Amino acid sequence: MSNSIKICPTNALPRGEMRCQRLADRNVLVAHTDAGYLVADEMCTHEDARLCDGNLNGTLVKCPLHGSRFDLLTGRVLDDPAEDDLTIYPVTIIDDHVCISIAADQE
Ligand code: FES
Repeated sequence: MSNSIKICPTNALPRGEMRCQRLADRNVLVAHTDAGYLVADEMCTHEDARLCDGNLNGTLVKCPLHGSRFDLLTGRVLDDPAEDDLTIYPVTIIDDHVCISIAADQE
């Protein structure tokens, strides 16, 4: 069972850009990439850094603090010092809005 949540209008985020978005119970990063809109938890899995303050290159986001990169398509961490993958969310476009599904075990 999952819950669908509206993140932002599709026209609010130009391709190649990302931003953090506060939801009721969590903060997420939303990125508009060549692979579409991708959504993940906003905080780096290493320490307290908001990934939306880093750099987006394709589907890769680079942490502003120590430089670990994460692939927003898979959530996989690619570089030290972060070791844990990022939580990502399935994205659907509904009525020109980016929406995510949150599975029961992510609530
Ligand atoms: S806080 Fe992101 S790599 Fe250290």
